[in-house]
Amino acid sequence: MRDKIVAGNWKMNKTLPESKALIKDIKNAIKNEELQNIRVIVAPTFVNLRSAVKKAKKSVVEIAAQNMHQADSGAYTGEISAEMLKSIGVKIVILGHSERREYFGETDSLLSKKVDQALNSKLEVIFCFGEVLEDRKSENHFKIVESQLKNGLFHLREKDWKHIILAYEPVWAIGTGETASPEQAQEMHKLIRKLIAENYNQSIANDVSILYGGSVKPTNAKEIFSKEDVDGGLIGGAALKADDFVALIQAIK
Ligand code: 13P
Repeated sequence: MRDKIVAGNWKMNKTLPESKALIKDIKNAIKNEELQNIRVIVAPTFVNLRSAVKKAKKSVVEIAAQNMHQADSGAYTGEISAEMLKSIGVKIVILGHSERREYFGETDSLLSKKVDQALNSKLEVIFCFGEVLEDRKSENHFKIVESQLKNGLFHLREKDWKHIILAYEPVWAIGTGETASPEQAQEMHKLIRKLIAENYNQSIANDVSILYGGSVKPTNAKEIFSKEDVDGGLIGGAALKADDFVALIQAIK
């Protein structure tokens, strides 16, 4: 059975004290919750990861990085390697976020290298993808998503898929207040599962968690999460306040 997941991508938000406080508040708010098959992940910025790992210890909260470099090590000023993440206790990395693709020129082919590097280092990957508004308007959204998956992930071996979480994030819905309707999310998630079944097999397709991301809030989460192929959310804005984030965890139960 696949996991349900509520993951917070904090992006470039929260100083060290703020990051510590938010993790503490989330931890306290969910410590008595029954969270069977539900994973709670937060992704603070690099400089706060070490403290986040320590703060989240002995709780269900898992810590993810927001990015990673594809090389083992070397002359890449300002970059962070998979082994560095591992060495501070981080076990999950978000790759392919649309903001990385758009503002930092990350392409499908670069991302496929990053995915390989993460998996080689035994990190779990939250792989993000999704179409921009023009693609949806021109009804190219299914094709775009298919090519992002194919170019980024479909070279993987069957056994690699145990370490992959997918996050469909239509770019037009990120930070805009505009959410894909639950039906639009379900339609895309169903297609994604079908593509995986076709390229691999039904059991891999059934087991992979597919998150939806883009303006998920306490007011719309329940409806989106109730869809058959939506296994949770990758949350931006609403992950920055403990009350909102905890409400999203409640919404998936
Ligand atoms: P918002 O929830 O702020 O729209 O951001 C979604 C996102 O980009 C998560 O990675």
